[in-house]
Amino acid sequence: MTPRAKFPATQPEPVAVGRELPAISVSPGTIESCDFLDAESVDAIAVGVGAPIAGDDELQPRAGTVHASARYRIDLAELAHRSHFKAAPGTTHVIDLPVTHRGSGAVLPWQGLPLRIILMGVGQGTDDDLRKAGAALAKVSKGLGKVVTTVAARSDDRGTRHFVEGYLLGAYSSWSRKAKAAPVPAQELVLLGPNSQDAVDTARRHAWLTWIARDLATIPSNIKTPAWLASQFVAIAKTYGVEAKTWSGKHLQDQGFGGVEAVGQGSVNPPVMVQLSYVPEKKAKDHKHVVLVGKGISFDTGGISIKRPRETMITMKTDMTGAADAFAAVIGAATSKIGHSVTAMLPLAENHFGANSTRPSDVITIFGGKTVEIANTDAEGRVVMADALAYGSLELGADLLIDVATLTGAAAMSLGHSHAALFTNNEDLSKRFLEAAEETGEALWRMPLVHEYSEALESQVADLRNIPEHAAGAGAVVAALFLEQFTNGLPWVHLDIAGPSHRNSKHHEANKGPTGFGARVVLEVLEKL
Ligand code: BES
Ligand code: MN
Ligand code: ZN
Repeated sequence: MTPRAKFPATQPEPVAVGRELPAISVSPGTIESCDFLDAESVDAIAVGVGAPIAGDDELQPRAGTVHASARYRIDLAELAHRSHFKAAPGTTHVIDLPVTHRGSGAVLPWQGLPLRIILMGVGQGTDDDLRKAGAALAKVSKGLGKVVTTVAARSDDRGTRHFVEGYLLGAYSSWSRKAKAAPVPAQELVLLGPNSQDAVDTARRHAWLTWIARDLATIPSNIKTPAWLASQFVAIAKTYGVEAKTWSGKHLQDQGFGGVEAVGQGSVNPPVMVQLSYVPEKKAKDHKHVVLVGKGISFDTGGISIKRPRETMITMKTDMTGAADAFAAVIGAATSKIGHSVTAMLPLAENHFGANSTRPSDVITIFGGKTVEIANTDAEGRVVMADALAYGSLELGADLLIDVATLTGAAAMSLGHSHAALFTNNEDLSKRFLEAAEETGEALWRMPLVHEYSEALESQVADLRNIPEHAAGAGAVVAALFLEQFTNGLPWVHLDIAGPSHRNSKHHEANKGPTGFGARVVLEVLEKL
């Protein structure tokens, strides 16, 4: 008998997480005065056009468009009008200029200048509009060499930050194993005009972390086992001076992480709890210790309570986006050297069915001693999160807790792909998060913690049931109320990102597929704390 050919269970290592972002530089001046605008070295210039103001149908050419018109000696506003360009944010109109017929002896007014002008719709020029314009420029300039733009040059740093962040997010190409490589972003983007390098750096730091979260969420679950994720987190953390600690096997049990154990025990890829700690060299006067918790389910089959219909399982490789976000935020806190301590607790497990899977009706013990009846093994996120929240509040001396999780289909049902559900027991934190949402474009919508609904979580045999006995709606609220049981009264924010963690089609700076949503809004809050 010939031995059966073995298909490799695990694929070789994928590309390293933490890819280099495309280059961006800053240069003062205007299109009229600029001395490096030659066709040889610059492939395109991109200039802004504002949308008509209400009650009017006149486009609003920005300074760059006016200067380009003067330098090229072309009426760009007329050209835009003639081609029905409406300058809506995120739209573009590409003008490829001709050259003279060889031997004709004619000289065109734009001789020697870059031959492509990109008109960029910037709407009313809001932060949001500039992010969309940035993303649109990234798409339209793929494959080019050097691109020069004046679009970001608004009177303040915010404009630069939003435009650059949009550009870098739009430039993302998905992690993939395709034989044919995706088109690459322009080699260099030059921001012409008064743009602050600081704003560019902030945008770059935030976008880089979102790229990491997207890559991690995109990598398939046969590669990103809990152990693999843990090793990536620990390796990257160490290079940024962030301390790392992990629990697995017997140590996980000994530490009392009964939730992570119960969810992960049905898989051949065993669960891991990861702790990453950033401690500032120079502590802020009002120093706080923030504990971040991120749901890290490397794949969610639903467990014995298997998911139905089966198509709903396909996107469940992204069920670790919360952990990727919390990881990104702690790395971000370390790179921007914030004055507060940040610890990320990342419960990593694969929710699978197997001979050793937790059964519906099993009773388990969460860290700290509370018992939970597992009525449905598909409500696994709250169970692993419970261990981490309890550990943060009971052991780590947290001043506040922030958790991020692809927790409920109900949150996605109510808010769709653009907004995450925000739950909190603290008004100040609510304000901070809603402001950070504006600042980053990661939209949040506050939902209520309706304490009356807690009754639904009562169990006959344990302190809590993981799902209500009789479904009564408000699935996202009930899940949040379950988590609240493990926060020990600390100020706490819970982001249910089930909806925006994934998109079915490209949408401005959010790409199709895993979006990495959540990393930037959390980091923004930490940086402003
Ligand atoms: N990971 C899912 C939630 C989810 C659904 C995320 C859709 C992204 C898109 C979570 O573990 C889950 O299965 N939740 C259940 C809870 C239910 C059993 C109470 C749900 O929402 O259906
Ligand atoms: Mn589930
Ligand atoms: Zn899940």
